[in-house]
Amino acid sequence: MITIANPSIETEHFLFVLLAGERLAASVSAKQSKFLKSSNPKVSRFLKAQSRQESFHASVFRASLLWLNPKSRYTHKEHPILTNMQKQLEDAIDHGRIEESILGLQVMIEELGECALNDLDITLEKYRFGLHKVRRIILNQEKAHHTFGERYIAEQKFTLASRQTLLRSCDSYLDDIDTLLADIEPALNSLNISPQDYLQRISSSIYQALS
Ligand SMILES: [Fe+2]
Ligand SMILES: [Fe+2]
Repeated sequence: MITIANPSIETEHFLFVLLAGERLAASVSAKQSKFLKSSNPKVSRFLKAQSRQESFHASVFRASLLWLNPKSRYTHKEHPILTNMQKQLEDAIDHGRIEESILGLQVMIEELGECALNDLDITLEKYRFGLHKVRRIILNQEKAHHTFGERYIAEQKFTLASRQTLLRSCDSYLDDIDTLLADIEPALNSLNISPQDYLQRISSSIYQALS
């Protein structure tokens, strides 16, 4: 395992965003699970398991932050952009727009998370960070959440109008993701990652689910 004598502010901030993203995912998937409990028990169970897994991921990122900087002030902080996205996603569930919430969380945010975690993993591997088993478990679980989201949306029967409404609802999530990527750009640059690649992959994922 590596030790970092001078943890960079960018890496700490990046881990904070991942931690806040995991907390958002845990909370929203728990709410989705409750919403679908009687109408779709099988999907509800998957979402309940997802929520538990996201809480576990959050605990791993919280521990990583503290390992990087034992005095980190980020462990209890909220991220304003992710807080805003969480409100939008929960508002969609409260108003019965479960497809919008699944497109927002499992398709768009999970694609972003999958990209970031894969790139972070490549860097961690270079530094022989260790914790291979935990890293592999997290990556596989994130992939399963994202695949579930794409399949769920692809299986719904949308009218042309409802499909267009759903596509329009993506705009505000994409705006928030754009702002979020600008917020972590220094960390992405230090990992040689282009935010534009992430946006491209998220857009492809939306169209794949809704094609
Ligand atoms: Fe996660
Ligand atoms: Fe996830």
